[in-house]
Amino acid sequence: MSDINLYTTEKPIKLILKVAGNGCNIDCSYCFEKNKKNSHGIMSATFLKDLLSKIDSQVSIVFHGGEPLLIGIKKMDELLQVVSESYADKVIAVKVQTNGILISEEWIQLLFYKYVNLHIEIAISLDGTNEMNSLRVNKQGKSTYEKVIETYRLLDKHNIKAGMLSVISRNSLTVIKEYIKLLQSINNLSFVKLNPLFNLKDNKLAENSISPSEYANFVLEIAKVYIQNRLYEKIAIEPILSMIQKINGRVSRYCNYSTCKCFEFISVYPDGTLGPCDSFSAEEFLITVDDNSLENSILNALRQVNANKLKQLLSSCEECDIKDFCMSGCLSQRYYFESNSDLSEDYCISKKILYEFAKGYMI
Ligand SMILES: C[S@@+](CC[C@H](N)C(=O)[O-])C[C@H]1O[C@@H](n2cnc3c(N)ncnc32)[C@H](O)[C@@H]1O
Ligand code: SF4
Ligand code: SF4
Repeated sequence: MSDINLYTTEKPIKLILKVAGNGCNIDCSYCFEKNKKNSHGIMSATFLKDLLSKIDSQVSIVFHGGEPLLIGIKKMDELLQVVSESYADKVIAVKVQTNGILISEEWIQLLFYKYVNLHIEIAISLDGTNEMNSLRVNKQGKSTYEKVIETYRLLDKHNIKAGMLSVISRNSLTVIKEYIKLLQSINNLSFVKLNPLFNLKDNKLAENSISPSEYANFVLEIAKVYIQNRLYEKIAIEPILSMIQKINGRVSRYCNYSTCKCFEFISVYPDGTLGPCDSFSAEEFLITVDDNSLENSILNALRQVNANKLKQLLSSCEECDIKDFCMSGCLSQRYYFESNSDLSEDYCISKKILYEFAKGYMI
């Protein structure tokens, strides 16, 4: 198997900047931010500048949250100014991950005109049709669907392409054709990521969550319609793209199917708390920077007990027949499933379901 590591100094670091902590303007019922320690500060330009100065390698940056646009236009301008100073040299890509509610002409002017030099990419969270999106509600419990659709249209008016992150919950499982129709109807949609809702409560799947094999079967149903309608000519859908890449021995850029794992993604909170990929709680895997470089701090953090558990998950894949296809999957999902052996087992079953399907597309 290609070398899969939790971190290697040879690849760029991906900074997940939680610029408004985990504060948010809406209230998605499933949001994993609610299980984390509250963090309500705003990231300062000085803090970001200092952090970038502690990184030797190249970095890609994603403005994330909570809701990143909550910091307001002025503060974002200050942060983008810092990013601009390191762009092309140290910073190699800039993205914004947003719920899309606050996007306005003013935000578009800032992100895509004033900082056109940063080639900012934007991804918006929308779980699909109004029915599928019903867990993404505002603080009054009302649907956010129409507002998000308006945001795609507004971006399209400026010829700006946008991605979509869809959380696949129990509400999604039977809405296949309607979901594909929605994707076709959004002119400026460039890519889609189907993320499963695997929340746990008392070590069992929480309300509205689905099992790994339910998720795999949903992906297959989507893939069939996607391929039949030749939608791949317009939109890349993950994990379908990665499944086809891996079955054909190619490299995927999606962490679930690549050598790129948890500690190559660094979540950064305004109070200076750092942890690995956002799907973990930072407290479980704290990265302490002090006067060290970020790279050395990550290597130190990898000596923690909890990180050993992730390494064990990686080594448990060594004898697996489909490891070159699966690439050990998402270690965060597998880490939390460790408390439930049925779900752990089902995780591997789900990867085998996807593998059998992908075999039909071997070139
Ligand atoms: C935490 S949000 C932060 C950025 C922004 N507020 C947004 O909604 O895009 C980032 C992504 O995580 C997803 N997410 C939140 N909780 C999740 C969960 N329990 N399982 C899977 N994805 C989740 C959201 O749907 C969103 O696509
Ligand atoms: S918009 Fe993003 S951060 Fe806010 S509650 Fe929803 S998923 Fe969580
Ligand atoms: S199917 Fe399971 S054991 Fe095999 S590589 Fe994937 S996660 Fe590892």
